[in-house]
Amino acid sequence: MSVIEVQGLTKRYGPVTAIEDLSFQAGEREILGFLGPNGAGKTTTMRILTGFIPASEGNVRLSGFDIREHPWEVKKRIGYLPEIPPLYADMSVDVYLRFVAEIRGTEKARARRRLGEVKELCGLQTVGRTLIRRLSKGYRQRVGMAQAIIHEPEILILDEPTIGLDPKQIIEVRHLIKSLGERHTVLLSTHILPEVSMTCQRVIILNKGKLVAVDTPEGLLRRLQGGERIFIRFRVDRQGPSDGFDPAEVARVPGVRRIVREVLGDSSLVSLELEVEDDQEVRGRLAEYLVGRGWKLQEMRSVNPTLEEIFIRLVTEEPVA
Ligand SMILES: Nc1ncnc2c1ncn2[C@@H]1O[C@H](COP(=O)(O)OP(=O)(O)O)[C@@H](O)[C@H]1O
Ligand SMILES: [Mg+2]
Repeated sequence: MSVIEVQGLTKRYGPVTAIEDLSFQAGEREILGFLGPNGAGKTTTMRILTGFIPASEGNVRLSGFDIREHPWEVKKRIGYLPEIPPLYADMSVDVYLRFVAEIRGTEKARARRRLGEVKELCGLQTVGRTLIRRLSKGYRQRVGMAQAIIHEPEILILDEPTIGLDPKQIIEVRHLIKSLGERHTVLLSTHILPEVSMTCQRVIILNKGKLVAVDTPEGLLRRLQGGERIFIRFRVDRQGPSDGFDPAEVARVPGVRRIVREVLGDSSLVSLELEVEDDQEVRGRLAEYLVGRGWKLQEMRSVNPTLEEIFIRLVTEEPVA
């Protein structure tokens, strides 16, 4: 059974369809990335999952509970870090975290133990008595994270948790999310690409309210580039028997799907980017072929598009999923 099960989720705000027919799952201790440009529908989806707003259509089950039929069972099992954490500026960190634990029904002894644990996990040991209003943005984000996990929820929903943080704080928060993923199922939204490849096992790409792809970061790369790619550079002998080189020859080597592009060098230097079935297998055959023709292989390497390129392709083109 999946911990998060979303089926046909749609949300309309009057004439605006914020999300349309979203379906996805997340398993135990999975970190699922929710990636998409501003306005894609990430926050809307998270607010529905956490019970803050109702869906127009569709079903959500969290830890097996339908969110409409068992809102309280669900609330106990999720921790939510909204884009702007709901902090009480006039409370100290300790008082606030104790308060949050209490309203979520955590019993006193357990809350006391958890307070120490989450403060350590979130790096808040030294600021327990500090008023939240006196904390820096980075520390407030840590308090936001601490309130999301104090009641030991099975599911964590984090809406752009690194937004507004400095680079050092971003790295710290990413480490924290990774370690949380060892015990919780995490749904993490971001519009920053490296964030998902660094922290998530699987990624959902949303664009204009629609799901355009679900895959592992590696799977996205593989699937969307339409095969692996190899770059080769070799010298042909224009005077010898191989004069009159035709790139189509290389495309006939088994395992080569097509020539993606040919880069012109001087007259005898040939550079090709090839789309191949299987990088490792084709390499040997290509080398053998080139040597057999008496050509000098100078370079052979994999070329992989970055997740960035794929993301841009996905959100600017028609859905591929
Ligand atoms: N309360 C609202 N009323 C009307 N439109 C809204 C409301 N909240 C969000 N939207 C619209 O829904 C779409 C998705 O927004 P949102 O979920 O905030 O996206 P994201 O978090 O990915 O940036 C946007 O077009 C936004 O303008
Ligand atoms: Mg948002």
